[in-house]
Amino acid sequence: MQNIQSYHDAFVKHLEAFVTSKQPETLYNPINYILQLGGKRLRPILTLMTAEIFENDYKKALDAALSVEVFHNFSLVHDDIMDDAPLRRGKETVHEKWDINTGILSGDAMLIMAYQLFENYEPHVFQDLAKLFSKTAIEVCEGQQYDVDFETRDDVTIAEYLKMIEYKTAVLVGAAMKMGAIVAEASQECQNSIYDFGRNLGIAFQLQDDYLDAFGDPKTFGKQVGGDIIENKKTYLYLKALEFSNKEDQLQLEHLYGVSPSDPSEKIETIKQLFVATGSAEATKKEIENYTKKAFSVLESIKISEANKNALMAFGENLMNRNV
Ligand code: IPE
Ligand code: IPE
Ligand code: MG
Ligand code: MG
Ligand code: MG
Repeated sequence: MQNIQSYHDAFVKHLEAFVTSKQPETLYNPINYILQLGGKRLRPILTLMTAEIFENDYKKALDAALSVEVFHNFSLVHDDIMDDAPLRRGKETVHEKWDINTGILSGDAMLIMAYQLFENYEPHVFQDLAKLFSKTAIEVCEGQQYDVDFETRDDVTIAEYLKMIEYKTAVLVGAAMKMGAIVAEASQECQNSIYDFGRNLGIAFQLQDDYLDAFGDPKTFGKQVGGDIIENKKTYLYLKALEFSNKEDQLQLEHLYGVSPSDPSEKIETIKQLFVATGSAEATKKEIENYTKKAFSVLESIKISEANKNALMAFGENLMNRNV
């Protein structure tokens, strides 16, 4: 098992070799732009780590890791169109820098590239990877559609929200890890356990993403702070604030989540104050911890060394304490 930084560096080196300039530039430049914009590289690192945890050379998992990261970046390009987001990783989003049509087609090409990367594996590994990938990709689409549908609904439940984030985000984290296990040819039982670990960690991760969207530091966050509030996203923060509010605050929250002012700064401030005052911000932090612990408890039943379990737990702890 290597340290996280060395997985990161090996991955980025592999990605840079993959990124080449091709024609037409108007298709490939946006792809190369988003792929080289940085980001935490969390999912590919998890793929590489998992391959080694199941006693395989991480280098064999580099293409699977790249596939996951290319898919993730495709989903971000389309997500930023859907969320009308101006900023990604501290830079202009693809559809802002180019235009929406460019974002759509470059995104489509990335989705296909992600599949293509499995062609470098033996047929039985290829089949397992492709099957998992297709299932995951469809679930991400379902999650993304729920997310958009919820913007204009006023009766979203916590259970619906949790299902939505499981689909749009957590299944890909689970799949990133399971792909490492598939490449390592780990047992079915191990593959499923590590998927479950990643899925629970992924739920914690999206809860934290929602928390940071409201409370992140604009100087370091890299995305538009308050973007979810502007878009009337029905996050855990919002749903818990409603639950914990008195009638008057409930009405104010529901009213604010039904309007789209041209200058949203006052709306964002009022809502953030309500998130804190109602105890919803605290409850969200608690839930992030709960899902992280849930992920850790999956590790108890899995047949890997204590050192590897500790490495995965350290990774989870770091995610919980991140500010980007
Ligand atoms: C952003 O993912 C989209 C979510 C699922 C929350 P990341 O926070 O992993 O984005 P990067 O790749 O590090 O920029
Ligand atoms: C993104 O959720 C999930 C996917 C991209 C599939 P968000 O919309 O919260 O992600 P960010 O905050 O824009 O990164
Ligand atoms: Mg978004
Ligand atoms: Mg979104
Ligand atoms: Mg977000």
